[in-house]
Amino acid sequence: MADVSVLFVCLGNICRSPTAHGVFQQMIDDAGLADRVRVDSCGTGGWHVGEAPDRRSTAEAARRGYQLAHLRARQLVSEDLAEFDYVLAMDGNNLSEIKKLQKKSKVDSASIQLFLEYASQQPVREVPDPYYGGADGFAEVLDLVEAASRGLLADVRQRLESPC
Ligand code: 4NP
Repeated sequence: MADVSVLFVCLGNICRSPTAHGVFQQMIDDAGLADRVRVDSCGTGGWHVGEAPDRRSTAEAARRGYQLAHLRARQLVSEDLAEFDYVLAMDGNNLSEIKKLQKKSKVDSASIQLFLEYASQQPVREVPDPYYGGADGFAEVLDLVEAASRGLLADVRQRLESPC
């Protein structure tokens, strides 16, 4: 079993959270921490369950050296909230949906927060939904996800060094 687990959450689990999943997994692999850190992603909605990530996300990620094509969308379930150490929402709507599920299911959850809390130098706190927009939106998602993943990696390293 991994020592630390991270779950990225967006709406559809085909654009933003699989991007974060692929980018952060690569950083974990590169850091030699794959045996100690579990990475996963899901959506608060169920429309795209079983689908591969959006081709536009896969293409922009591949340009930067990250693989997403093997990922498949799934929907957030209450067990996730008990299971994962970090539950990281892409935007405020995702965050309120996660908290709603937590209240309803009465699970005691670890840390539920906005992913961009780990991108302290970025002026924004939400990863904008790129689904209905152009290619620029997908590049912006990658920029924000890369920045927050670096901050998250530092936090995860600290937790691994001094587990509470
Ligand atoms: P994501 O983007 O939440 O980043 O995966 C979306 C994907 C699909 C839809 C909305 C957002 N949709 O409405 O189908």
